[in-house]
Amino acid sequence: MAEAVLRTADGHEKAALSQSLAARWQSSREAGAPLDIGTATPPDRPARPARPELLDPRDVPRRRPGSPAGRIAMLHAVAHIELNAIDLHWDIVARFTATRMPPGFYDDWVKAAAEESRHFKLVTGVLEAHGSHYGALPAHAGMWRAAEDTMDDLMGRLAVVPMVLEARGLDVTPDMIALFEKAGDEKAVEALRVIYAEEVGHVAYGSKWFHFLCGRHELDPKDTFHGLVRRYFHGALKPPFNEEKRAEAGLPPEFYWPLAENRATSAR
Ligand SMILES: [Fe+2]
Ligand SMILES: [Fe+2]
Repeated sequence: MAEAVLRTADGHEKAALSQSLAARWQSSREAGAPLDIGTATPPDRPARPARPELLDPRDVPRRRPGSPAGRIAMLHAVAHIELNAIDLHWDIVARFTATRMPPGFYDDWVKAAAEESRHFKLVTGVLEAHGSHYGALPAHAGMWRAAEDTMDDLMGRLAVVPMVLEARGLDVTPDMIALFEKAGDEKAVEALRVIYAEEVGHVAYGSKWFHFLCGRHELDPKDTFHGLVRRYFHGALKPPFNEEKRAEAGLPPEFYWPLAENRATSAR
């Protein structure tokens, strides 16, 4: 099921398949007859549509965030992140079946994948209401990098994807919501609020399963997290951090502050 999503190129088809397969998994669990986890051979990179054109982030044109075109570009970037997130969650389901994990691990990532699918639909809906669509603008080419770097390392994947990248979403979304509020774009605000509320859960799943594996291998969670992020994540973490939401998601300050850039100047 995970592989089928990863191998679907069209964004809307990918999101729809992701939601229907997630519902199938969830109903099998509720019926007390869970589907077998099985094994999979996920592709190195997920299938993607011909559009958007994928560019090096330095070549993606920047637009003033306050302008209508800037807001469209911002929503387009969010849609791209959400599409990538659908694949990231199904990839963690498919990629690490050699590591025995409790069924709850699969419940969490399948639920997260279904939520990302809704996020993609919500944001592309807003784009379409503005006369644009996903694929109308170029997008960031480097989004799969974190997945490739952690292809053989489940703990590294958990550290970098939900606990660094998705946690970053918690830091930046409130400002984005404020920007769309100021512009009077209720539809965008509504979509971003759903995303903001649900992303806390994804970071929490990351932290939960990361700590679970630290327990299994008798590793110190904080030191292990620092080691894995330094190994697999390129660059420092960017403050300011949304400490409240990060705490809610099970990410304490001592996990991320030591990895922040300009520590001397930005630490309180
Ligand atoms: Fe999302
Ligand atoms: Fe997410």
